[in-house]
Amino acid sequence: MSSDKKLFIQTLGCQMNDTDSQHIAAELEKHKDYTQTDTMEDADLIIINTCSVREKPVQKLFSEIGQFNKKKKDGAKIGVCGCTASHLGKDIIKRAPYVDFVVGARNISKIKDVIDVKGSVEISIDNDESMYEFGPAKTNKYRASVNISVGCDKKCTYCIVPNTRGEEISIPPEMIVTQVQKAVDEGAVEIMLLGQNVNSYGRRFSDKRPKHSFTKLLQDISKIENLKRIRFTSPHPLHMDDEFIEEFAKNEKISRCIHMPLQSGSTEILRAMKRGYTKEWFLNRANKMRELVPDLRITTDIIVAFPGETEEDYQDTLDVVRQVKFDQVFNFKYSPRPETPALDLKDKEIPDAIGSERLTGLIELHKRHLEATMPSHVGTTVNILVESLKPNGEVTGYTDNYLQVFAKGSDELLGKFVDVKIVSATRTALKGEVLI
Ligand code: SAH
Ligand code: SF4
Ligand code: F3S
Repeated sequence: MSSDKKLFIQTLGCQMNDTDSQHIAAELEKHKDYTQTDTMEDADLIIINTCSVREKPVQKLFSEIGQFNKKKKDGAKIGVCGCTASHLGKDIIKRAPYVDFVVGARNISKIKDVIDVKGSVEISIDNDESMYEFGPAKTNKYRASVNISVGCDKKCTYCIVPNTRGEEISIPPEMIVTQVQKAVDEGAVEIMLLGQNVNSYGRRFSDKRPKHSFTKLLQDISKIENLKRIRFTSPHPLHMDDEFIEEFAKNEKISRCIHMPLQSGSTEILRAMKRGYTKEWFLNRANKMRELVPDLRITTDIIVAFPGETEEDYQDTLDVVRQVKFDQVFNFKYSPRPETPALDLKDKEIPDAIGSERLTGLIELHKRHLEATMPSHVGTTVNILVESLKPNGEVTGYTDNYLQVFAKGSDELLGKFVDVKIVSATRTALKGEVLI
């Protein structure tokens, strides 16, 4: 049955939030007959799926919904979902009374009921959605995302996520395999497995079944025929044991790009963050990965100016960046978050100007690394999965180790793996010619 009820969703935050938004859209399509629109002004229901990880995205929420309220169609409803919904709850409606409902990150399955109850607030972080069957979440025709766990048990001292997404529960492996199989049957060749801490997978299931492991899950999934590439995020450096690294190295379906969130290169600061590893452990794991996986690309997250970070601690971070030669760095300045243990270190907070300086130093160092290394790809031939065609006649796709490549092409190439001869490089992507 077709319907003229339109849904507009804006997503802030991480890849889990993207997947949650796709689940929201699928629930509302299946149960409430909504179809998605890209134009907010046309929508009957406007949802903003929020992030709380730093203060900035929280401020963004209130400016965005203010705009939505001004420009929305008469009678259109506004809902706030996601991590900020979890931690601010009904205060959102107090501050912005035109908001119709608030649904926390772990309550997505309730969306179909909540949209009809003005003023409802569903933000329990104990809600267990690990066995709920959501519809498929597709990034594009060839790539799908599948959650493998909900919540996070890590409690890094700076991080609000355990308070917004609750305790970690793994999704049963057979449900994950079925979801991946379904996505592949519908044309996906690449799968992204998602969890806040993927390699602690299998320690707790809601039906109390025996433990499983992430390595075993990777083996289960790689048996799926016609699935070509497996990616995942985020693994925790502490849990990157030899068994996992060896599976990563020998399993040909696993993409040769890994996210290793460093956070800090100083063992002292890592201890204050409760990350559970030292500078030496991180370097040891990164070196072992590089040793076993040729042309591996490593991406990372780094926080500068965590309370108490001395110049020496910061230099330790730069040292790890120099040694590991990360291929992509997501840099953040520490942002104090409500109800996190790091707030107790308030008297050790680093002045903002120093934080900004350290951030700039890190960005510059990494920029120089990319400028020195990216041109070395020119003249080589790489293999990419072509994912989209741009209006200017260029196709784009990614190598197995997740470098983005652009080339002149046509829609016949979509969904195919093709060789591309690289002719130029920027700091973040390559350009080339498709070899037929
Ligand atoms: N579970 C993922 C990260 C989720 S949050 C992991 O552990 O890798 C994404 C990134 O945001 C984190 O890796 C961290 O670098 C950053 N982050 C989290 N809390 C922050 C805070 N209070 N201030 C600044 N950056 C933060
Ligand atoms: Fe936050 Fe740490 Fe959990 Fe990542 S592992 S979500 S940084 S508490
Ligand atoms: Fe993701 Fe932001 Fe929540 S990073 S887990 S949406 S706080």
